[in-house]
Amino acid sequence: MNPPHIAYESGVLRLIDQTQIPRAIVVSRLTTVEEVAGAIRGMKVRGAPAIGIAGAYGMAMCAAASAAVSLSAEDFMNRMTEAARHLSAARPTAVNLSWAVNAVLALLAQRSLAGEQPAAMAAVVEAYARKIHADDIETCRRIGDAGAELLAPDGALLTHCNTGSLATGGYGTALGVIRSAWHAGKLKMVWVDETRPLLQGARLTTWELAQDSIPHTLIADAMAAHFMRRGLVSAVIVGADRIARNGDTANKIGTYGLAVLAHAHGIPFYVAAPSSTCDGATATGDDIIIEERSPDEVTSMGGVRLTPADTHAANPAFDITPAKYITAIVTEFGVLRAEFSQSIAAMRVCAAPRDGVTTR
Ligand code: MRU
Repeated sequence: MNPPHIAYESGVLRLIDQTQIPRAIVVSRLTTVEEVAGAIRGMKVRGAPAIGIAGAYGMAMCAAASAAVSLSAEDFMNRMTEAARHLSAARPTAVNLSWAVNAVLALLAQRSLAGEQPAAMAAVVEAYARKIHADDIETCRRIGDAGAELLAPDGALLTHCNTGSLATGGYGTALGVIRSAWHAGKLKMVWVDETRPLLQGARLTTWELAQDSIPHTLIADAMAAHFMRRGLVSAVIVGADRIARNGDTANKIGTYGLAVLAHAHGIPFYVAAPSSTCDGATATGDDIIIEERSPDEVTSMGGVRLTPADTHAANPAFDITPAKYITAIVTEFGVLRAEFSQSIAAMRVCAAPRDGVTTR
């Protein structure tokens, strides 16, 4: 994707507004932590790794603004702590957001103990946010290559939601595997779930696949079982918002149903995610907070009401796929298999903390 969908320069975060794609390419220009949190909550930027990157740049923005008004070191730290709380609260399920802002705070705590002043700390935060962004692109490429090796040749992969460049720093997780498999000549086509209610599959994944000329067919979510039964799906691959220590995985609502369907049809079900999505503080899927969004997203589409005015609707944004339905989890450190509590724990040992900062 050219230019990048997320870029930070001189205290300004520029995002391609994902609520407008593919109708229009509109760039949002954000200059305050409140605006960054609002863009995350309103899903102008979305996808677990991408909101982590946006959160880190939000912290850089706050650090630069706070250093510019010559706050004391203590007031600077208080303001950064408040910014981290505000940003983390924007969306609760994807661990990457709280992971990124807490990593910035942990880094600042070290520097502050060493007596560093706000101006120097602001420069450190900006460099760190850029590193989180750059690392994510490299991580996605590694996930893509590891995942492509797993796949049988001539595959027809089914994917859900959007896990591509837009959802990450670039390249994508599950969509990164799809990209790598396509370039390796192992992929025939992609089934794209539309992903009700906000249509990330129909609007965003199709847009990214078309840009790369990867053959794909859009289906309504309810059609997946039909195509599996006819033998037309060789594997399912999805991203993740949070992976518990036992491998239970939170991802876009509808993922759990796909996993059960894949199991019933003997089709491999793969999760592709960076190690930062594995949350050492969460034991099982039961401990993951599921974001509830406005019922209007279900009762309306494109601002047009679909239902009678008094229809009640539920709108959990994510569901939990039990680890027993997951064939493998693809990370930048390689492919993890059951028993996931062991393979995830071993992987977390390999995942060296960035710059000596560990937050989980
Ligand atoms: O609500 P969204 O669009 O942010 O949900 C995104 C997903 O569920 C993705 O599958 C997940 O964040 C992984 S993105 C690489």
